[in-house]
Amino acid sequence: YLVCPMNASPYVDPHKPSQEIWEEFSMSFTPAVRDVVDFAKRISGFCDLPEHDQVGLLKAGTFEVLMVRFASLFNAVERTVTFLSGKRYSLDTLRALGAGELLNSMCEFSEKLAALRLDSEEMNLFTAVVLVSADRSGIQDLNSVEALQDKLIRGLRNLVMQNHGEESATTFTKLLLKLPELRSLNNMHSEELLSFKVHP
Ligand code: HEM
Repeated sequence: YLVCPMNASPYVDPHKPSQEIWEEFSMSFTPAVRDVVDFAKRISGFCDLPEHDQVGLLKAGTFEVLMVRFASLFNAVERTVTFLSGKRYSLDTLRALGAGELLNSMCEFSEKLAALRLDSEEMNLFTAVVLVSADRSGIQDLNSVEALQDKLIRGLRNLVMQNHGEESATTFTKLLLKLPELRSLNNMHSEELLSFKVHP
């Protein structure tokens, strides 16, 4: 089994060599990763960062950006996850196939993000904030990354203040509190990824 919704399905053919399983899996998630790179290039100011830092932020932040973009794959009410092929599986099924606590944490994250009712413009700006807030170890031009982050956060704040009436201050605060949650999901997911073997 390969219980990641970026795959087409959690089931893998037990007779397939694991190299082929990886190849098919990477064909499934590569377009999504490419979209993150294209998205990054369209963040005004991102391309002005040193190339080394653009790569560093993308490496550290792609999962977190994808998590936000694909949060809607998780349906906390119906307790299902839709895989990239469009097929839907119940949490219980995925549990039985080997998924663990991380699956529940991602589901909970998605539910709370959806509750903030962001429109697409807010979602885009939040996603930009997520990317430039990625782990900075190895970043060369910290000042420029921070200046860009400040600019994006101010933009997000203005937008949320305009759109969310009485709730706006709490909505903005909750959004910022999503950043450490995403970092933690990223770390847990990396561990799954590193320890992954195609389960028997
Ligand atoms: C688990 C790879 C992105 C959600 C896994 C596993 C691998 C993997 C190898 C372990 C599978 C297993 O043990 O059966 C990747 C790669 C990604 C990616 C290469 C890069 C594009 C994502 C994203 C999400 C996600 C963006 C969420 C939207 C999950 C979940 C699990 C998982 C829910 C199962 C966690 C659990 O066992 O509780 N992923 N993943 N992955 N991934 Fe991903």
